[in-house]
Amino acid sequence: MSLLNASAFAIKRGLSSSASATPRMLNGHTLAPTANHSGNAGMKILAVLYKGGEAAKQEPRLLGTVENQLGIRSWLESQGHEYIVTDDKEGPNSVFQQHIKDAEVLITTPFHPGYLTRELAKNLKVCVTAGVGSDHIDLDAAVERDIQVLEVTGSNVTSVAEHVMMNILLLVRNFVPAHEMIERGEWRVSDIARNAFDLEGKVIGTLGAGRIGRLVLERLRPFNPKELLYYDYNPLPADAVAKLGARRVEDLKDFVSQCDIITVNAPLHEGTKGLINADLLKHFKKGAYLVNTARGAICNTEDVAAALKSGQLNGYAGDVWNVQPAPKNHPWRYMKNPLGGGNGMTPHYSGTTLDAQARYAAGTKQILENYFQGKAQEPANIIVGVGKYESKSYGQR
Ligand code: NAI
Repeated sequence: MSLLNASAFAIKRGLSSSASATPRMLNGHTLAPTANHSGNAGMKILAVLYKGGEAAKQEPRLLGTVENQLGIRSWLESQGHEYIVTDDKEGPNSVFQQHIKDAEVLITTPFHPGYLTRELAKNLKVCVTAGVGSDHIDLDAAVERDIQVLEVTGSNVTSVAEHVMMNILLLVRNFVPAHEMIERGEWRVSDIARNAFDLEGKVIGTLGAGRIGRLVLERLRPFNPKELLYYDYNPLPADAVAKLGARRVEDLKDFVSQCDIITVNAPLHEGTKGLINADLLKHFKKGAYLVNTARGAICNTEDVAAALKSGQLNGYAGDVWNVQPAPKNHPWRYMKNPLGGGNGMTPHYSGTTLDAQARYAAGTKQILENYFQGKAQEPANIIVGVGKYESKSYGQR
Protein backbone atom coordinates (compact mmCIF):
# COMPACT_ATOMS: atom_id res chain seq x y z
CA MET A 1 0.00 0.00 0.00
CA SER A 2 1.29 3.39 -0.85
CA LEU A 3 -0.20 6.37 0.92
CA LEU A 4 1.52 9.67 0.56
CA ASN A 5 -0.40 12.08 2.68
CA ALA A 6 1.87 14.83 3.86
CA SER A 7 -0.85 16.75 5.67
CA ALA A 8 0.07 16.50 9.34
CA PHE A 9 -3.05 18.33 10.33
CA ALA A 10 -6.59 17.21 9.87
CA ILE A 11 -8.58 19.70 7.91
CA LYS A 12 -12.30 19.80 8.38
CA ARG A 13 -14.25 20.13 5.15
CA GLY A 14 -16.85 22.64 6.29
CA LEU A 15 -17.58 23.75 2.78
CA SER A 16 -20.39 23.82 0.35
CA SER A 17 -20.58 23.44 -3.38
CA SER A 18 -23.07 24.99 -5.66
CA ALA A 19 -24.32 24.20 -9.13
CA SER A 20 -24.82 27.34 -11.09
CA ALA A 21 -28.11 27.33 -12.96
CA THR A 22 -27.32 30.53 -14.82
CA PRO A 23 -25.57 29.95 -18.14
CA ARG A 24 -22.16 31.67 -18.33
CA MET A 25 -20.35 33.01 -21.32
CA LEU A 26 -16.78 32.44 -22.54
CA ASN A 27 -15.52 34.08 -25.73
CA GLY A 28 -19.12 34.80 -26.70
CA HIS A 29 -20.23 31.14 -26.27
CA THR A 30 -22.77 29.97 -23.74
CA LEU A 31 -21.12 27.56 -21.37
CA ALA A 32 -22.63 24.41 -20.01
CA PRO A 33 -23.50 24.75 -16.34
CA THR A 34 -20.65 23.64 -14.11
CA ALA A 35 -20.48 22.97 -10.43
CA ASN A 36 -17.99 25.03 -8.48
CA HIS A 37 -16.58 24.91 -5.04
CA SER A 38 -17.80 27.99 -3.24
CA GLY A 39 -16.26 27.81 0.22
CA ASN A 40 -12.84 28.94 1.36
CA ALA A 41 -12.22 26.04 3.71
CA GLY A 42 -10.07 23.06 2.73
CA MET A 43 -11.46 20.01 1.05
CA LYS A 44 -10.28 16.46 0.67
CA ILE A 45 -8.79 15.72 -2.74
CA LEU A 46 -8.02 12.11 -3.49
CA ALA A 47 -5.74 11.11 -6.35
CA VAL A 48 -5.20 7.59 -7.68
CA LEU A 49 -2.00 7.51 -9.69
CA TYR A 50 0.45 4.82 -10.74
CA LYS A 51 3.51 3.88 -8.77
CA GLY A 52 6.71 5.25 -10.26
CA GLY A 53 9.31 3.58 -8.00
CA GLU A 54 12.97 4.38 -8.63
CA ALA A 55 12.19 5.83 -12.04
CA ALA A 56 9.97 8.50 -10.49
CA LYS A 57 12.61 9.36 -7.91
CA GLN A 58 15.21 9.79 -10.63
CA GLU A 59 12.92 11.52 -13.13
CA PRO A 60 10.80 14.29 -11.61
CA ARG A 61 9.04 14.81 -14.93
CA LEU A 62 7.18 11.57 -14.24
CA LEU A 63 4.44 13.76 -12.83
CA GLY A 64 1.63 11.22 -13.10
CA THR A 65 3.10 8.99 -10.38
CA VAL A 66 2.31 8.60 -6.67
CA GLU A 67 5.79 9.90 -5.98
CA ASN A 68 5.54 13.13 -7.97
CA GLN A 69 1.80 13.64 -7.38
CA LEU A 70 1.10 15.75 -10.48
CA GLY A 71 3.34 18.40 -8.97
CA ILE A 72 0.43 20.00 -7.11
CA ARG A 73 0.87 19.01 -3.45
CA SER A 74 2.41 22.20 -2.15
CA TRP A 75 0.00 24.31 -4.20
CA LEU A 76 -3.01 22.44 -2.80
CA GLU A 77 -1.74 22.43 0.77
CA SER A 78 -0.90 26.12 0.65
CA GLN A 79 -4.63 26.64 0.13
CA GLY A 80 -5.53 24.44 3.09
CA HIS A 81 -6.68 21.40 1.14
CA GLU A 82 -5.98 17.84 2.17
CA TYR A 83 -4.32 15.85 -0.63
CA ILE A 84 -4.30 12.06 -0.49
CA VAL A 85 -2.34 10.29 -3.21
CA THR A 86 -2.31 6.54 -3.61
CA ASP A 87 -1.97 3.67 -6.05
CA ASP A 88 -3.82 1.33 -3.68
CA LYS A 89 -7.20 1.03 -5.35
CA GLU A 90 -8.57 -2.50 -5.10
CA GLY A 91 -11.00 -3.74 -2.48
CA PRO A 92 -12.91 -2.18 0.42
CA ASN A 93 -9.80 -1.70 2.57
CA SER A 94 -7.85 0.10 -0.12
CA VAL A 95 -6.79 3.68 0.45
CA PHE A 96 -8.98 4.64 -2.50
CA GLN A 97 -12.14 3.13 -1.07
CA GLN A 98 -11.44 4.40 2.44
CA HIS A 99 -10.96 8.01 1.38
CA ILE A 100 -13.52 8.18 -1.40
CA LYS A 101 -16.22 8.26 1.28
CA ASP A 102 -15.59 11.88 2.22
CA ALA A 103 -13.52 13.20 -0.67
CA GLU A 104 -14.95 16.12 -2.63
CA VAL A 105 -12.62 15.75 -5.60
CA LEU A 106 -11.27 12.56 -7.14
CA ILE A 107 -8.36 12.68 -9.54
CA THR A 108 -7.72 9.48 -11.46
CA THR A 109 -5.39 8.47 -14.24
CA PRO A 110 -6.47 6.09 -16.99
CA PHE A 111 -3.04 4.45 -16.75
CA HIS A 112 -3.88 3.01 -13.33
CA PRO A 113 -7.61 3.53 -13.09
CA GLY A 114 -9.42 3.80 -9.80
CA TYR A 115 -12.84 2.46 -10.79
CA LEU A 116 -15.56 4.73 -9.50
CA THR A 117 -18.70 2.63 -9.19
CA ARG A 118 -22.21 3.83 -8.37
CA GLU A 119 -21.82 2.63 -4.74
CA LEU A 120 -18.60 4.58 -4.20
CA ALA A 121 -19.80 7.84 -5.72
CA LYS A 122 -21.60 9.17 -2.66
CA ASN A 123 -20.10 12.50 -1.57
CA LEU A 124 -18.02 13.45 -4.54
CA LYS A 125 -18.59 16.67 -6.42
CA VAL A 126 -15.94 16.43 -9.11
CA CYS A 127 -13.94 13.71 -10.87
CA VAL A 128 -10.92 14.84 -12.82
CA THR A 129 -9.26 12.49 -15.27
CA ALA A 130 -5.57 13.32 -15.48
CA GLY A 131 -5.43 12.41 -19.14
CA VAL A 132 -8.13 11.42 -21.63
CA GLY A 133 -10.77 8.68 -21.31
CA SER A 134 -13.20 8.62 -18.40
CA ASP A 135 -14.68 5.15 -18.79
CA HIS A 136 -13.36 4.11 -15.36
CA ILE A 137 -16.09 6.30 -13.90
CA ASP A 138 -19.72 5.21 -13.84
CA LEU A 139 -20.83 8.15 -15.96
CA ASP A 140 -24.56 7.43 -15.63
CA ALA A 141 -24.19 7.52 -11.83
CA ALA A 142 -22.28 10.79 -12.13
CA VAL A 143 -25.14 12.25 -14.17
CA GLU A 144 -27.71 11.11 -11.61
CA ARG A 145 -25.71 12.44 -8.65
CA ASP A 146 -24.64 15.75 -10.15
CA ILE A 147 -20.98 14.75 -10.07
CA GLN A 148 -19.03 16.60 -12.70
CA VAL A 149 -16.60 14.54 -14.77
CA LEU A 150 -13.82 16.57 -16.33
CA GLU A 151 -10.81 15.48 -18.29
CA VAL A 152 -7.78 17.18 -19.78
CA THR A 153 -9.12 16.83 -23.28
CA GLY A 154 -6.49 16.83 -25.98
CA SER A 155 -3.61 16.59 -23.50
CA ASN A 156 -2.16 13.37 -24.88
CA VAL A 157 -3.82 12.90 -28.25
CA THR A 158 -0.65 13.58 -30.24
CA SER A 159 1.23 11.14 -28.01
CA VAL A 160 -1.33 8.41 -28.77
CA ALA A 161 -1.52 9.20 -32.48
CA GLU A 162 2.26 8.80 -32.74
CA HIS A 163 2.03 5.49 -30.90
CA VAL A 164 -0.67 4.31 -33.31
CA MET A 165 1.61 5.13 -36.23
CA MET A 166 4.42 3.17 -34.58
CA ASN A 167 2.08 0.21 -33.95
CA ILE A 168 0.82 0.17 -37.52
CA LEU A 169 4.34 0.27 -38.91
CA LEU A 170 5.76 -2.34 -36.57
CA LEU A 171 2.99 -4.77 -37.47
CA VAL A 172 2.97 -4.19 -41.21
CA ARG A 173 6.77 -4.33 -41.43
CA ASN A 174 7.01 -7.36 -39.10
CA PHE A 175 9.42 -5.47 -36.83
CA VAL A 176 9.12 -7.27 -33.50
CA PRO A 177 10.15 -10.76 -34.71
CA ALA A 178 12.96 -9.13 -36.73
CA HIS A 179 14.35 -7.45 -33.64
CA GLU A 180 13.92 -10.57 -31.50
CA MET A 181 15.87 -12.53 -34.12
CA ILE A 182 18.73 -10.06 -33.86
CA GLU A 183 18.79 -10.38 -30.07
CA ARG A 184 18.94 -14.16 -30.42
CA GLY A 185 22.10 -13.75 -32.54
CA GLU A 186 20.41 -15.03 -35.71
CA TRP A 187 20.14 -13.63 -39.24
CA ARG A 188 17.48 -15.10 -41.54
CA VAL A 189 16.08 -12.34 -43.73
CA SER A 190 13.48 -14.48 -45.48
CA ASP A 191 11.86 -15.57 -42.23
CA ILE A 192 11.00 -11.93 -41.63
CA ALA A 193 10.48 -10.71 -45.19
CA ARG A 194 7.90 -13.43 -45.89
CA ASN A 195 5.46 -11.47 -43.74
CA ALA A 196 6.64 -7.85 -44.18
CA PHE A 197 4.77 -5.33 -46.33
CA ASP A 198 4.70 -1.63 -47.20
CA LEU A 199 2.09 0.68 -45.73
CA GLU A 200 1.78 2.43 -49.07
CA GLY A 201 -1.21 1.27 -51.08
CA LYS A 202 -3.17 -0.15 -48.14
CA VAL A 203 -6.72 0.67 -47.05
CA ILE A 204 -6.58 2.01 -43.51
CA GLY A 205 -9.58 2.83 -41.35
CA THR A 206 -10.17 4.40 -37.98
CA LEU A 207 -13.02 3.29 -35.76
CA GLY A 208 -13.71 6.63 -34.10
CA ALA A 209 -12.67 9.83 -35.82
CA GLY A 210 -12.42 12.27 -32.94
CA ARG A 211 -9.24 14.02 -31.88
CA ILE A 212 -6.92 10.98 -31.99
CA GLY A 213 -8.58 9.39 -35.02
CA ARG A 214 -8.15 12.57 -37.00
CA LEU A 215 -4.51 12.99 -36.00
CA VAL A 216 -3.86 9.42 -37.09
CA LEU A 217 -5.53 9.99 -40.46
CA GLU A 218 -3.47 13.15 -40.88
CA ARG A 219 -0.26 11.24 -40.17
CA LEU A 220 -1.21 8.37 -42.48
CA ARG A 221 -1.87 10.58 -45.51
CA PRO A 222 1.84 11.06 -46.45
CA PHE A 223 2.29 7.29 -46.63
CA ASN A 224 0.12 7.26 -49.79
CA PRO A 225 -2.51 4.78 -48.67
CA LYS A 226 -4.91 3.36 -51.25
CA GLU A 227 -7.74 4.84 -49.21
CA LEU A 228 -8.44 6.23 -45.74
CA LEU A 229 -11.79 5.26 -44.20
CA TYR A 230 -13.57 6.09 -40.97
CA TYR A 231 -16.52 4.78 -38.99
CA ASP A 232 -18.12 7.18 -36.51
CA TYR A 233 -21.68 8.26 -35.74
CA ASN A 234 -20.37 11.83 -35.59
CA PRO A 235 -19.36 12.65 -39.17
CA LEU A 236 -16.18 14.61 -39.73
CA PRO A 237 -16.69 18.27 -40.58
CA ALA A 238 -16.37 19.16 -44.27
CA ASP A 239 -13.02 20.92 -43.82
CA ALA A 240 -11.54 17.82 -42.14
CA VAL A 241 -12.82 15.57 -44.93
CA ALA A 242 -11.25 17.88 -47.50
CA LYS A 243 -7.96 17.94 -45.62
CA LEU A 244 -7.76 14.25 -44.78
CA GLY A 245 -9.48 12.77 -47.80
CA ALA A 246 -11.14 10.14 -45.61
CA ARG A 247 -14.34 8.40 -46.66
CA ARG A 248 -17.02 7.59 -44.10
CA VAL A 249 -18.46 4.07 -44.05
CA GLU A 250 -21.71 3.90 -42.13
CA ASP A 251 -22.05 0.16 -41.63
CA LEU A 252 -19.51 -1.39 -39.26
CA LYS A 253 -19.24 -4.78 -41.01
CA ASP A 254 -18.90 -3.04 -44.35
CA PHE A 255 -16.19 -0.82 -42.83
CA VAL A 256 -14.07 -3.63 -41.38
CA SER A 257 -14.42 -5.74 -44.53
CA GLN A 258 -12.74 -3.02 -46.61
CA CYS A 259 -9.74 -2.31 -44.35
CA ASP A 260 -6.27 -3.84 -44.45
CA ILE A 261 -5.51 -2.04 -41.19
CA ILE A 262 -7.93 -0.82 -38.52
CA THR A 263 -7.08 1.53 -35.68
CA VAL A 264 -9.51 1.89 -32.77
CA ASN A 265 -9.91 5.42 -31.46
CA ALA A 266 -13.32 5.49 -29.76
CA PRO A 267 -14.01 5.73 -26.03
CA LEU A 268 -15.22 2.73 -24.07
CA HIS A 269 -18.94 2.93 -23.37
CA GLU A 270 -21.91 0.57 -23.60
CA GLY A 271 -21.89 0.92 -27.40
CA THR A 272 -18.23 -0.05 -27.82
CA LYS A 273 -17.72 -2.62 -25.04
CA GLY A 274 -16.90 -5.96 -26.72
CA LEU A 275 -17.63 -4.43 -30.13
CA ILE A 276 -14.72 -6.26 -31.73
CA ASN A 277 -15.62 -9.87 -31.12
CA ALA A 278 -15.61 -13.18 -33.00
CA ASP A 279 -18.70 -12.19 -34.96
CA LEU A 280 -17.18 -8.94 -36.23
CA LEU A 281 -13.69 -10.41 -36.71
CA LYS A 282 -15.22 -12.82 -39.28
CA HIS A 283 -15.94 -9.78 -41.42
CA PHE A 284 -12.35 -8.50 -41.32
CA LYS A 285 -10.19 -9.11 -44.38
CA LYS A 286 -8.16 -12.27 -43.86
CA GLY A 287 -4.77 -11.22 -42.48
CA ALA A 288 -5.82 -7.68 -41.51
CA TYR A 289 -4.02 -5.77 -38.77
CA LEU A 290 -5.77 -4.32 -35.73
CA VAL A 291 -4.34 -1.58 -33.51
CA ASN A 292 -6.15 -0.64 -30.32
CA THR A 293 -4.82 2.14 -28.14
CA ALA A 294 -8.32 3.19 -27.04
CA ARG A 295 -9.47 0.71 -24.37
CA GLY A 296 -8.84 -3.00 -23.97
CA ALA A 297 -12.48 -3.88 -23.29
CA ILE A 298 -13.53 -2.66 -26.75
CA CYS A 299 -12.04 -5.93 -28.01
CA ASN A 300 -13.00 -9.36 -26.72
CA THR A 301 -9.77 -10.76 -25.26
CA GLU A 302 -10.22 -14.41 -26.22
CA ASP A 303 -11.69 -13.68 -29.65
CA VAL A 304 -8.77 -11.44 -30.63
CA ALA A 305 -6.23 -14.03 -29.40
CA ALA A 306 -8.01 -16.76 -31.41
CA ALA A 307 -8.17 -14.57 -34.54
CA LEU A 308 -4.42 -13.91 -34.32
CA LYS A 309 -3.66 -17.58 -33.74
CA SER A 310 -5.69 -18.64 -36.76
CA GLY A 311 -4.24 -15.93 -39.02
CA GLN A 312 -7.57 -14.17 -39.48
CA LEU A 313 -5.63 -11.26 -37.98
CA ASN A 314 -2.00 -10.98 -39.06
CA GLY A 315 -1.25 -8.63 -36.19
CA TYR A 316 -2.61 -6.96 -33.09
CA ALA A 317 -0.92 -4.10 -31.26
CA GLY A 318 -1.77 -1.53 -28.64
CA ASP A 319 -1.22 -0.60 -25.03
CA VAL A 320 -4.63 -0.99 -23.43
CA TRP A 321 -5.83 -4.04 -21.58
CA ASN A 322 -8.85 -5.37 -19.78
CA VAL A 323 -7.92 -5.18 -16.83
CA GLN A 324 -4.92 -3.01 -15.87
CA PRO A 325 -2.34 -3.91 -14.74
CA ALA A 326 -2.74 -6.93 -17.01
CA PRO A 327 -2.33 -10.23 -15.15
CA LYS A 328 0.73 -12.31 -16.01
CA ASN A 329 -1.43 -14.88 -17.79
CA HIS A 330 -3.29 -12.39 -19.98
CA PRO A 331 -3.43 -14.01 -23.45
CA TRP A 332 -2.46 -10.78 -25.21
CA ARG A 333 0.97 -10.92 -23.60
CA TYR A 334 1.88 -14.09 -25.49
CA MET A 335 -0.45 -14.46 -28.48
CA LYS A 336 1.18 -14.87 -31.90
CA ASN A 337 0.13 -15.33 -35.53
CA PRO A 338 0.88 -18.65 -37.28
CA LEU A 339 4.37 -17.37 -38.21
CA GLY A 340 5.23 -16.55 -34.60
CA GLY A 341 4.88 -12.77 -34.86
CA GLY A 342 2.12 -10.18 -35.03
CA ASN A 343 2.12 -9.09 -31.39
CA GLY A 344 2.89 -5.42 -30.66
CA MET A 345 1.51 -5.15 -27.14
CA THR A 346 3.05 -2.89 -24.50
CA PRO A 347 1.95 -1.65 -21.09
CA HIS A 348 -0.39 1.34 -21.14
CA TYR A 349 1.97 4.23 -21.82
CA SER A 350 1.17 5.77 -25.18
CA GLY A 351 -0.56 8.76 -23.62
CA THR A 352 1.87 9.18 -20.74
CA THR A 353 5.05 10.31 -22.42
CA LEU A 354 6.91 12.97 -20.46
CA ASP A 355 5.53 15.58 -22.84
CA ALA A 356 2.00 14.34 -22.21
CA GLN A 357 2.52 14.25 -18.43
CA ALA A 358 3.52 17.91 -18.42
CA ARG A 359 0.32 18.75 -20.30
CA TYR A 360 -2.10 16.67 -18.27
CA ALA A 361 -0.58 17.75 -14.96
CA ALA A 362 -0.94 21.41 -15.96
CA GLY A 363 -4.46 20.76 -17.22
CA THR A 364 -5.48 19.05 -13.99
CA LYS A 365 -4.22 22.03 -12.00
CA GLN A 366 -6.17 24.42 -14.22
CA ILE A 367 -9.37 22.41 -13.77
CA LEU A 368 -8.93 22.45 -9.99
CA GLU A 369 -8.17 26.15 -9.99
CA ASN A 370 -11.35 26.84 -11.96
CA TYR A 371 -13.31 24.76 -9.49
CA PHE A 372 -11.84 26.47 -6.43
CA GLN A 373 -12.42 29.91 -7.87
CA GLY A 374 -15.88 29.27 -9.25
CA LYS A 375 -14.75 29.79 -12.84
CA ALA A 376 -16.34 28.01 -15.77
CA GLN A 377 -14.52 24.94 -17.04
CA GLU A 378 -13.26 24.73 -20.60
CA PRO A 379 -16.28 23.24 -22.47
CA ALA A 380 -14.20 20.58 -24.26
CA ASN A 381 -13.05 19.25 -20.87
CA ILE A 382 -16.56 18.55 -19.59
CA ILE A 383 -17.60 14.94 -20.09
CA VAL A 384 -20.46 15.10 -17.59
CA GLY A 385 -21.69 18.51 -16.48
CA VAL A 386 -24.20 19.07 -13.74
CA GLY A 387 -26.80 16.34 -14.26
CA LYS A 388 -26.12 15.68 -17.94
CA TYR A 389 -23.66 14.41 -20.50
CA GLU A 390 -21.91 17.27 -22.26
CA SER A 391 -19.63 15.11 -24.44
CA LYS A 392 -21.03 13.53 -27.60
CA SER A 393 -18.28 10.91 -27.57
CA TYR A 394 -19.73 8.46 -25.02
CA GLY A 395 -22.53 7.06 -27.18
CA GLN A 396 -25.53 8.51 -28.95
CA ARG A 397 -27.89 9.94 -26.35
P1 NAI B 1 -12.73 12.12 -28.82
O1 NAI B 1 -13.87 12.28 -27.89
O2 NAI B 1 -12.12 13.33 -29.42
O3 NAI B 1 -13.17 11.18 -30.03
C1 NAI B 1 -13.82 9.96 -29.85
C2 NAI B 1 -14.60 9.66 -31.13
O4 NAI B 1 -15.11 8.33 -31.03
C3 NAI B 1 -15.80 10.60 -31.32
O5 NAI B 1 -15.78 11.17 -32.60
C4 NAI B 1 -16.99 9.68 -31.13
O6 NAI B 1 -18.12 10.05 -31.90
C5 NAI B 1 -16.41 8.34 -31.59
N1 NAI B 1 -17.20 7.21 -31.14
C6 NAI B 1 -17.80 7.00 -29.94
N2 NAI B 1 -18.46 5.84 -29.95
C7 NAI B 1 -18.28 5.30 -31.19
C8 NAI B 1 -18.74 4.11 -31.80
N3 NAI B 1 -19.56 3.25 -31.16
N4 NAI B 1 -18.36 3.86 -33.05
C9 NAI B 1 -17.59 4.73 -33.74
N5 NAI B 1 -17.13 5.89 -33.22
C10 NAI B 1 -17.48 6.16 -31.95
O7 NAI B 1 -11.67 11.26 -28.04
P2 NAI B 1 -10.10 11.14 -28.31
O8 NAI B 1 -9.37 12.22 -27.64
O9 NAI B 1 -9.90 10.93 -29.76
O10 NAI B 1 -9.78 9.80 -27.50
C11 NAI B 1 -10.42 8.58 -27.85
C12 NAI B 1 -10.14 7.53 -26.81
O11 NAI B 1 -8.77 7.17 -26.84
C13 NAI B 1 -10.36 7.97 -25.35
O12 NAI B 1 -11.70 7.95 -24.99
C14 NAI B 1 -9.52 6.98 -24.60
O13 NAI B 1 -10.29 5.83 -24.33
C15 NAI B 1 -8.42 6.63 -25.58
N6 NAI B 1 -7.13 7.20 -25.15
C16 NAI B 1 -6.11 6.34 -24.88
C17 NAI B 1 -4.91 6.81 -24.43
C18 NAI B 1 -3.76 5.88 -24.17
O14 NAI B 1 -2.80 6.27 -23.50
N7 NAI B 1 -3.77 4.68 -24.70
C19 NAI B 1 -4.69 8.23 -24.14
C20 NAI B 1 -5.80 9.07 -24.57
C21 NAI B 1 -6.98 8.55 -25.01
